[in-house]
Amino acid sequence: MKILSCQQFGPIDSLQLIEVPTPQPKAKEILIEVKACGANFPDILLVEGKYQFRPDFPFAPGGEVAGIIKEVGEEAKGFKVGDKVVAFTGWGGYAEAVVTHYSRVFLLPEGIDWEVASSCLYTFGTVYHALKDRANLQKGETLLVLGAAGGIGLATVELGKYMGATVIAAASTDEKLQVCQQKGADHLINYQEQDLKKSVKTLFPNGVDIILDPVGGQYTEPALRTIGWNGRYLVVGFTAGDIPKIPLNLPLLKGCQIVGVFWGAFSQRHPKAYRQQINELMLLLKEGKIQSHIQATYSLEEAKQALHALQNRKAIGKLVITP
Ligand SMILES: NC(=O)c1ccc[n+]([C@@H]2O[C@H](COP(=O)([O-])OP(=O)(O)OC[C@H]3O[C@@H](n4cnc5c(N)ncnc54)[C@H](OP(=O)(O)O)[C@@H]3O)[C@@H](O)[C@H]2O)c1
Repeated sequence: MKILSCQQFGPIDSLQLIEVPTPQPKAKEILIEVKACGANFPDILLVEGKYQFRPDFPFAPGGEVAGIIKEVGEEAKGFKVGDKVVAFTGWGGYAEAVVTHYSRVFLLPEGIDWEVASSCLYTFGTVYHALKDRANLQKGETLLVLGAAGGIGLATVELGKYMGATVIAAASTDEKLQVCQQKGADHLINYQEQDLKKSVKTLFPNGVDIILDPVGGQYTEPALRTIGWNGRYLVVGFTAGDIPKIPLNLPLLKGCQIVGVFWGAFSQRHPKAYRQQINELMLLLKEGKIQSHIQATYSLEEAKQALHALQNRKAIGKLVITP
């Protein structure tokens, strides 16, 4: 089978399309024919050797897939050959097939297409956990989203609206903000052209209740300065590169919380709650209450272009690889 292979940590362009033998599932593993694989910012970090996992070489990036089960290990309960599934593989998805532990696989309800199915686990999974478990979002609260047109960002706009929040989308271009508006954002801030803190304070002089930050860098401190009393600042990621250092008088003066979000660890520490949340999200997708925004699809041969688009801040919503 073909995989887009990382032979050693390095830049995206060092990835190579190679042929490898199709892997055999061990007792608790499942072999999935990949129909679609969502591209995510962590795929880049993984290839560059900057992520929390460091797989053995050669490996393919690709953390979330949708496809059809081809083989089932004898102890992989609840699945059979031919089932349509989604799986949170961590890596290995930029390939014609992937093996993964059965605890990471979920049956796909009818009526969700491959591309959408393959691009909802990382984003909606993380954001649901963030807004529900970490922020305890209540109907009517205000929610500021940084990088609002990215994968995590747009999922936050959608889920935030579904959960009853007033959503303020902040992003770097008007084109990105237009998509946020189509997804239901109530207020738009172009943080390349407008002062983020002033713009939020003009809209909400008493501050906002929740801020979800997948970007970090120069945006974090001005955003935190707009938070209201009892606010929750969700730390999700650092696509801007720098990990911000925050003056600790800010949470004291504002009576707010700075809350870490680590969905991968949540999935291992609370597997039951994690499975339940994914199944709830699948239903929301099936009922059309949430929907991934897919900007483009790429073949395996073209997959490096998707990673470059993510790296260069060009992606809006999700990019999908269809081997
Ligand atoms: N904590 C968790 O459990 C968890 C789970 C999944 C993902 N994450 C993290 O969440 C972050 C977002 O992931 P994603 O897949 O949503 O990424 P994405 O689709 O690439 O979106 C990230 C956004 O960051 C903004 N950005 C600002 N400076 C950037 C730069 N120098 N390079 C690239 N983007 C930049 C861009 O928006 P603007 O151009 O509008 O600024 C972009 O839309 C990543 O750091 C990822 O590792 C964390």
